Amino acid sequence: GISFALLLSPLQQASAAKNDVDNVAHRGASGYAPENTVAAFEKAFEMKSDYIEIDVQQSKDGELVVIHDVTVDRTTNGTGAVKDLTLEELQSLDAGSWKGTEFAGEPIPTFEEILDRYRGKIGILIELKSPELYPGIEAKIAGELKERNMDKPNNEKIIVQSFNFDSMKKMDELLPNVPIGVLTGSKADTTEEKLQQFATYADYFNPHYGLVTNELVTNVHNNGMKISSWTVRNQQTADFLLSMNIDAIITDYPDFVQK
Ligand code: G3P
Ligand code: CA
Repeated sequence: GISFALLLSPLQQASAAKNDVDNVAHRGASGYAPENTVAAFEKAFEMKSDYIEIDVQQSKDGELVVIHDVTVDRTTNGTGAVKDLTLEELQSLDAGSWKGTEFAGEPIPTFEEILDRYRGKIGILIELKSPELYPGIEAKIAGELKERNMDKPNNEKIIVQSFNFDSMKKMDELLPNVPIGVLTGSKADTTEEKLQQFATYADYFNPHYGLVTNELVTNVHNNGMKISSWTVRNQQTADFLLSMNIDAIITDYPDFVQK
């Protein structure tokens, strides 16, 4: 029979051929530049990702900083817990050299700096990393967004996510217009009962790719949530997730998730 595509104008054909999954650069384009630094976020922007994903924690003196691990040991030339170091101490560290000498001196960014630098240019997927270590961090993060009027409905491409579900319930109360995501690597969180609970405060269900099946995608959508999955580190995983009807793919390599 006649193919569906032949009934469409060339413009419509182009748009039908293009997938519309959001491309989320995980800790920035962290396959190519040191994760959670401006170098990685700039790379993601150049590579035309739709979002950068950032991990937010808090310094000893209460400043919000962008770093993944709860210690600085792996990604900087320092040692110790993020929560035991002042902002000044954290920002004196080299968070780039471990990834390559060309990144020497790349600092740990502050949350405020990243909001100011990237809002309106690229979406920002904000992960609260280990928020249980930082009592009150939810209100602090909400405050920074409100101060910038970034908490209005559909105002900016901002999403907040965490593995800590209680923290996300709080964020939904603090920021009712900002989409909330729950992260999980656990199959026990994929039951219909759990999905219904998540849907009372979350807009995104964001599982590890190992949990993604057509049935899960359908169930998440039927509960009124979107689904993003992580973390792409090779082309095979990218191709698998591109074959599923999901809403966003979180990747270290933005180019593996072709549009
Ligand atoms: O955005 C999803 C992903 O970042 C969750 O795991 O450990 O890389 O923060 P992790
Ligand atoms: Ca993360």
